[in-house]
Amino acid sequence: MTVTTGKDEGHEALRLGVNIDHVATIRNARGGHHPDPLRAAHIAIEGGADGITAHLREDRRHISDSDIARLKAELTRPLNLEMAATDEMVAIALKHVPNACCLVPERREERTTEGGLDVVGGASHLSTVVDKLKTAGIRVSLFIEPEPAAIDASARVGADIVELHTGAYCVRALEDDVTGVARELERLKVGAELAHAAGMEVHAGHGLTYNTVKAVARLPQIVELNIGHFLIGEAIFGGLTAAVQHMRALMAQARRET
Ligand code: PXP
Repeated sequence: MTVTTGKDEGHEALRLGVNIDHVATIRNARGGHHPDPLRAAHIAIEGGADGITAHLREDRRHISDSDIARLKAELTRPLNLEMAATDEMVAIALKHVPNACCLVPERREERTTEGGLDVVGGASHLSTVVDKLKTAGIRVSLFIEPEPAAIDASARVGADIVELHTGAYCVRALEDDVTGVARELERLKVGAELAHAAGMEVHAGHGLTYNTVKAVARLPQIVELNIGHFLIGEAIFGGLTAAVQHMRALMAQARRET
């Protein structure tokens, strides 16, 4: 995504993509239409989101096909479609042409996206998928662990963007594992530098909260964070606008501190 709003200091440099999957999770708990992920997307944008991210999973556990169609038709900010690199998902992406596709690994039994893509092992298949999406004018991002081999392979398959998985860092932070946090932040720092040097745009996300966002936001090569579960959870207590605004403020503050 290449959207800037110039709303506040640091805003140009670090974008926030709000993942609205779990609005759909709550809707699907009862069927029907409430709460509507598109309404949440509009509110997130009003609160300062630069883009909206949605993961259409093979089992459709949260976001549905019609959500993607509505988001693409009605959003006023770029749509980042997270998806597995399957024929079914590629066909859906080519039909709707979102601004970006973030290719993620997907296993039916997982609760959320665990670990990054195996870009080294899947290079041949991924380069075909990346090529098809790019030919349609879609920017392609690969969700990877901050590992040199995965970053190298991402550049070789032609990815425009890598999104570095922040899950391990956030788990260590939840465990108050100071050494583990330092180790994971170092992996993210080195990964961001390598990916940037390889000519790819660098994004990051997964598991980020008010407590963990600033250390990642300080890494200067990172230009976009994608955050979902925590923001939707916080929205229960204080509203989505306030949650997005507070996250944006922390991101801007972290950039000012660098
Ligand atoms: N980035 C990617 C590639 C993801 O798969 C997810 C989860 O759907 C996120 C970011 C957002 O993670 P979280 O919901 O934990 O903030």
